[in-house]
Amino acid sequence: LHALSHEKDMCGLRVLVTAGPTREALDPVRYLTNHSTGRMGYAVARAAAARGASVTLVTGPTELPRPAYMEVVEVTSAREMFQAVTALSASMDLIIKAAAVADYRPRSVAADKIKKSAEARDLSLPLERTDDILGWLGEHRRPGQLLCGFSMETRDLLENSRKKLAKKHLDLIAANNLREEGAGFGTATNLLTLITAERETPLPLLSKDEAAHRLLDELLALRSTRT
Ligand code: CTP
Ligand code: CA
Repeated sequence: LHALSHEKDMCGLRVLVTAGPTREALDPVRYLTNHSTGRMGYAVARAAAARGASVTLVTGPTELPRPAYMEVVEVTSAREMFQAVTALSASMDLIIKAAAVADYRPRSVAADKIKKSAEARDLSLPLERTDDILGWLGEHRRPGQLLCGFSMETRDLLENSRKKLAKKHLDLIAANNLREEGAGFGTATNLLTLITAERETPLPLLSKDEAAHRLLDELLALRSTRT
């Protein structure tokens, strides 16, 4: 319904959305990544633009068409996403981090393709932590700026999501149920619970576009209570 009516209730708001997976190179031909398709983040970016916001989308590699009516910044790795987001964050009113950022990357990137060895049956890869982008944003927040994260869990979804809300100093976290039919990576629908310090709102199974609008509704409601 929203998508058709396009109520322009986000005019004048500068919104940064991140979407998609990151790729962490191992050697010139291989990388570590995850199943994120970017669809939820793109839906949020499109919904905010349709409602009149000035949107910047920082996106990892996806198969999705480049969305119109917004600035698009393409990145590949968690490090590049960190640099792009932290360079833009100071001017943003609302930051929504739907990207599935790698938590670890290979400690070193081999200059040449890693060859298999005839003797070794096993191979271990030393990994190192990436920067937590949302954690950084929570610590460098501009007054009045709202921060929204997504949470992916296969167990104890709500409990773990509440912990992330507090630990990263977020205003809202959208808890994404990966264990339900029709929800999570690569699906057209999502089953989200919107968690703030004040309340928890379980959404029904919705299209990612509709879920995006409900998420923005909740953020605008929060904004009006905070300002
Ligand atoms: N996130 C981020 N930078 C990272 C890792 C995660 O900004 N290096 C953000 C994601 O974009 C998401 C939120 O943090 O909005 C939660 O991501 P999630 O993977 O669910 O939680 P983590 O804090 O990474 O904890 P864990 O993976 O151990 O559950
Ligand atoms: Ca993670």
